[in-house]
Amino acid sequence: MHLHQTSPDAPIVVYGATGHTGRFIVAELLRRGRTPVLCGRDVVRLGEMAREHPGVVCHVAAIDDAAALDAALHGASALINAAGPFLDTTEPLLDAALRNRLHYFDTSAEQGAAAHVFGRDAQVREAGIVAMPSVAFYGALADLLATAAMDEWDDADSIDIAVGLDGWHPTRGTRITGERNRAVRWIVDDGELRPLPDPAPTREWNFPPPLGTQETVLLTLSEIVSIMRHLRSRRVHSYMNLAPLRDLRDPSTPSPVASDERGRSSQRFVLDVRVRRDGYTRLAMAQGRDIYAVTAPLIVEALERVLAGEVQEPGAWTAGEVFDAARFLGALAPEHFDLTLEYEDEESEETSEA
Ligand SMILES: NC(=O)c1ccc[n+]([C@@H]2O[C@H](COP(=O)([O-])OP(=O)(O)OC[C@H]3O[C@@H](n4cnc5c(N)ncnc54)[C@H](OP(=O)(O)O)[C@@H]3O)[C@@H](O)[C@H]2O)c1
Repeated sequence: MHLHQTSPDAPIVVYGATGHTGRFIVAELLRRGRTPVLCGRDVVRLGEMAREHPGVVCHVAAIDDAAALDAALHGASALINAAGPFLDTTEPLLDAALRNRLHYFDTSAEQGAAAHVFGRDAQVREAGIVAMPSVAFYGALADLLATAAMDEWDDADSIDIAVGLDGWHPTRGTRITGERNRAVRWIVDDGELRPLPDPAPTREWNFPPPLGTQETVLLTLSEIVSIMRHLRSRRVHSYMNLAPLRDLRDPSTPSPVASDERGRSSQRFVLDVRVRRDGYTRLAMAQGRDIYAVTAPLIVEALERVLAGEVQEPGAWTAGEVFDAARFLGALAPEHFDLTLEYEDEESEETSEA
């Protein structure tokens, strides 16, 4: 099956456009000269947002209203799903993308939602579209960094990923998604997907300043599912420092507040990936500001590359699988994050987990 040809200038439908992340994505599409179509279930919120963007079309469509979704998608080239919990929205919106034969992207962090998209690869190929889940801070960023670090290695002993945040002011969507997602989480050990141990192990991680050494806990999200699609490693583990998890657990932690001209909060992130093989370590790291805001350039960059014809074959893909990861990341740095890639194969003292 060949890739279904869509008009490169056709509109891009953003479902969940009124959400915190959806708004960043709409702004990024407009910044890149694209025509977004605002879509979601809440007529009041959509109306308010449409007034902020005169001339931008909006469609009200509940997630289970196939006819309304089809009307919204008519004539578009791609659907970006920014509405989570994705355990509720991925299936109906991927169905809509398949019916209308347009490319599908989402920002899911849930492993089950990403696995759902990959599990429908045959249908996606049959429809001649590209479907790419988890093109976001959690998911594609670690996948791209790990892929860039692997470079020409065709396997690794371990891929260790650590997220360091100076705090986390979660959105309503983040809180609801966490409550909704009670599924077993997966890690990779001995080359196989295994359930996350309970209690999850902790270890210290040396982040660059100002975070420095932090206590982290093994906590995996959709990056594991993405990485396992195409990279071979005996171990894939992801850690997060404890401070942001305390913020998340505290019901009184406020929502994020814009503190720069791009609407980003003051939150700082480090995404630190170490790939090891035969005693050698390679490092790939992104450091920047606001995990919600950085999701917009990631997903729009992927969309632009698909519309530009960089992906020749239809299918459910991860970003690292189909793009030149170092170039993709390089295209976003330093505007959206600082990027460090250390390819010198130096023998590492830190070859095993604490
Ligand atoms: N992987 C990552 O790094 C990453 C990054 C950013 C966001 N996310 C995920 O993206 C999702 C949205 O986050 P957010 O921060 O933008 O949250 P938010 O500000 O609360 O926005 C959530 C949006 O999703 C819509 N929505 C939720 N459930 C829906 C349903 N069943 N049917 C229709 N619309 C629905 C909401 O519509 P209403 O306003 O009508 O409720 C709203 O527009 C969350 O799942 C979050 O985990 C992931």
